Amino acid sequence: MGDPGFWMTDQASAIAPEVDWLFHFVHIVSLILFVAVIGAGIYFMIRYRRRDEREVPGPVKESAIVEAGLIIGPTLLVLVVFTWGFQLFLRQVTPPPDAYEIKVRAKQWAFEFEYPNGTVVGGDLHVPGDRPIKLTMTSIDVLHSMFLPAMRAKYDIIPGRYTTVWFDPTKDGTFELFCTEYCGASHSGMIANVVVQPYEAFDEWLSNQNTDDMPLPELGAKLYQQQACQTCHSSDGTPGVGPTFAGLWGQAARPLEGGNTVAVDADYLYESIVNPSAKIAEGYMPLMPASYASLSERQVSALIEYIKTLQ
Ligand code: CUA
Repeated sequence: MGDPGFWMTDQASAIAPEVDWLFHFVHIVSLILFVAVIGAGIYFMIRYRRRDEREVPGPVKESAIVEAGLIIGPTLLVLVVFTWGFQLFLRQVTPPPDAYEIKVRAKQWAFEFEYPNGTVVGGDLHVPGDRPIKLTMTSIDVLHSMFLPAMRAKYDIIPGRYTTVWFDPTKDGTFELFCTEYCGASHSGMIANVVVQPYEAFDEWLSNQNTDDMPLPELGAKLYQQQACQTCHSSDGTPGVGPTFAGLWGQAARPLEGGNTVAVDADYLYESIVNPSAKIAEGYMPLMPASYASLSERQVSALIEYIKTLQ
């Protein structure tokens, strides 16, 4: 079954067609049984309907063959589905030893990926297409879940614990990746792509991810995407879960919840990033996670420089 069919997403990993085979098998068997059971019910209702007020049904004859068939048939069917599913499950949870390992840190509301050379990126997950990929995942705040539909791969991400998910990519391209565990206000914005590339292209991409010499405003713009600030804070004035960054910088008296005001300077922005509940802008709720305290000083400065450019 190389074709995922009209209602399935792309098949982009080695296990995807096999998962789909099992899905279609269970689905088609269920459909056949549904039609057979409901059909027999309707047929018997008509065939054996009561035709007369005084009619008394005759004794029911037991058939050993029918009874044995109804026990053995479904048992075999369930065993087939169990064996097939369990065998696939074991493969799904056992990464091959030579897999390319990428560390994943999930936080409200973005994923961070750390590559074997120490490079950490947010936003999209890039992977080489010529080898199995293993994601070793943890969360720095609440429960999240990694779902790669085209890879038929999915696993929970749990704070204080490492979990893994792996896949063997079979085609290059850009596929969806998202969080499937409700994790707070912007759960639905915790979405990215997995970009499968030939090894050379991947390697080139990875070597371009070093941000050490990047000018701060440029780095800030990148972090704004990668750290998923944009899920709550627009850069163009569009209202969101959090205040927009457009025109924020330099306000002399920004109203706060509780009646005070604050001047929007670097100190205020710094505090709002690393300790977001300290001052809540008027009309908003204290929803921003404290996880941005883990950004480096350079990253926080870069975000501030970026916000300054949004006038
Ligand atoms: Cu993370 Cu939902």
